[in-house]
Parts: sequence; C-alpha cells; structure tokens
Amino acid sequence: MQPHTTSQLATPALLVDLDALNGNLRTMSLRHNGAKLRPHTKAHKCTQLANLQLQYGHKTFTCATPREIIGMAAAGVGEDLLLANEVVDRDRLNSLAKVSEKVRVTVAVDSNATIIAAASAGLRDVLIDVNVGLKRCGVAPQLAGQLADFARKQKITVRGVMGYEGHLMMIDSRDKRKLGVAESMRLLAQAATDVGGEIISAGGTGTFDLHDETCINELQAGSYALMDTHYAKLGLPFAQSCFVLGTVISTSQDWLVVDVGLKSLGMDHGNPTVDGFEVLFCSDEHTTLVPSKESASTKVSVGDKLRVVPAHIDPTMAMHELAYLVRGDEIIDSWSIDLRGW
Ligand SMILES: Cc1ncc(COP(=O)(O)O)c(C=O)c1O
Repeated sequence: MQPHTTSQLATPALLVDLDALNGNLRTMSLRHNGAKLRPHTKAHKCTQLANLQLQYGHKTFTCATPREIIGMAAAGVGEDLLLANEVVDRDRLNSLAKVSEKVRVTVAVDSNATIIAAASAGLRDVLIDVNVGLKRCGVAPQLAGQLADFARKQKITVRGVMGYEGHLMMIDSRDKRKLGVAESMRLLAQAATDVGGEIISAGGTGTFDLHDETCINELQAGSYALMDTHYAKLGLPFAQSCFVLGTVISTSQDWLVVDVGLKSLGMDHGNPTVDGFEVLFCSDEHTTLVPSKESASTKVSVGDKLRVVPAHIDPTMAMHELAYLVRGDEIIDSWSIDLRGW
C-alpha cells in the first residue's frame, strides 16, 4: 500500500519538504536568474528535482559524473550540460559523445591528456578548468591559455573557463569569504582573458551572494536546494528542506536510539542534528541521542519517528533510492534518486 503519511514509512527514509524546497529554488532564482545559475545536480542526483529547477528558469546544468549527464539527457532535462570534472575513461567518454548528439555536452579539461581523451571520443566542447586555490583539479591559471590553444589544435571548441573556489565555501566570516572569492576570481579572470570563449563559470552555495563584482557569468550552486547543517552555519537564506526520517528503536533512562546511521547519512562534515536532542554518536545503523535540556520532559517512545538533519547533503542523497516529497507529515509524491553511480 502507498504510504500517505510519514508515520507509515519504513525507515530510514529520505524526506524533502516541498514548500521549503520551492522557497530555496525561488530565492536562488531571484538572485541568479536563467542561465546565470547552472544548478549542480551532484547535490541531489534527482532528475525530477532538476526538472523543478528547470521550471524556475534554469536550462543549463552542472554535473559531476558521466552518469549524471547521461541520466539528465535521458530524462530530457536541460539543454546544455556541463561535466565540471575530469574524465579519462574511454567508455564513459564515448557514452558522453553519444549523448552530445542530442544535447549540448561540455566537459572540463585541465591537461593535454584530458583534451586528447575528449577529442578521441568525439566530444566537441570543453571548458578549461582552472585551479583558483582548491587543491583539486584545474590547470595553473598562467597555463590556461596554452591549454586552450592545444585544445583548439585538436579541433575542439573551447567555450571558456571554470574555476571552483571550494576551499572558501566554509569560511565562517562572510567578509573573509568575500575577500577570498575576489582573489580567486582575479585568477580566473586572467585565465579567461588568455583562454577566450563566452563562459566564466564558478561558485557554489557558500559564495552565491559574493560574486556581484567578480568576472563570472554563471554560478554552479547545488546544495542550496536541500541544504545541510554544515551550510546552515553560514546563515544563508536557504531553509533545510531535506531530512532523513528515522524510527526510535530503543530507549533507556538516559538516551534513545534512532535507526538512522552512517549508512544513510553523509558523515564527512560531522554528526547530524535532531531538533530537541543532542547527538552522542552515530554508528552504521544507529544514532544515539540524549534529550536537550529544553526538551527533557518530552516523552519519546519506541516506534516514534524523528527527523535527522544531515551534515552533508551530497553523500546523503547518494545513499538513498527514493525521496518522499512531504508537506508536514503528508506524503505528496516520491522521486527516484536516479542519478546515483558513476
Ligand atoms: C565543481 C563544483 N562546482 C560547484 C560546486 C558547488 O556546490 P555547492 O553549491 O553544493 O557548494 C561543487 C561542489 O562540490 C563543485 O564540485
């Protein structure tokens, strides 16, 4: 039987509060409308959620894996898909090339090897990925122009540059984040001049409002739609819209246990939170809680349901097959998390 309320759900179960989600999408689209936002699918891995982002006016999308590109194209969501990541696997590049016959696919490159791999597969559009401070992918800014020349010699269209300032996302002070963004985007601007092309792509949820005076013409934010406790610390205007519903499976005088553990929660940003409780620790299938002082008198019994708020949304989504869309405790719909895998 189809569950109608969250109390009928087997747990752990992923919940998405539809009104909070819509509020987040509206807030972001008012700040970065249309193609000024290239929503990142890595944060939700769900074509139906991407389709809602499309309804808010965004037709271009960022992806982190070939699977995300292929799934988005198969679902017919988006008309310009960017793989903001380096890939050298020949089969996956061939699959992307096939997809690029139907929808525009652009891949990030940061070396001669990634350019040759893309060209050999028949891919035609690239962005030069520039390192703007995060110790991850990206060519050194001063070498970006050279790399673009090499790509053009392979008969590849260089659409511009991207430079993800991920090392700045979690700096507590907004002023310091802003200074860091300005510095990183100076590097990207120089690279953009050397590279040419029309796209200058960067940014994320933590820096969504710090790019008014930078060189970029599109923002790659993803987490803003669902949010997590890690980003909540920054006081951004986005509400928590995703929860992992758990059932209380054991109580003792001093603590209680809910059936949501680190196999249903991204834990790399720390413990989750639960309203009214302190989290003692998480194990594979469990989170142990103690009531906070304010809620010490609230009686919790075995069988009760609690909403656990993940500390990192992206890996949390990748652990679930389905998200239930809710309004309060009523289940409105369910969405498949269909872009999981690589
Ligand atoms: C290349 C790239 N762009 C943008 C983002 C921004 O994502 P978020 O909005 O979740 O910070 C990420 C996140 O990891 C990323 O890897």
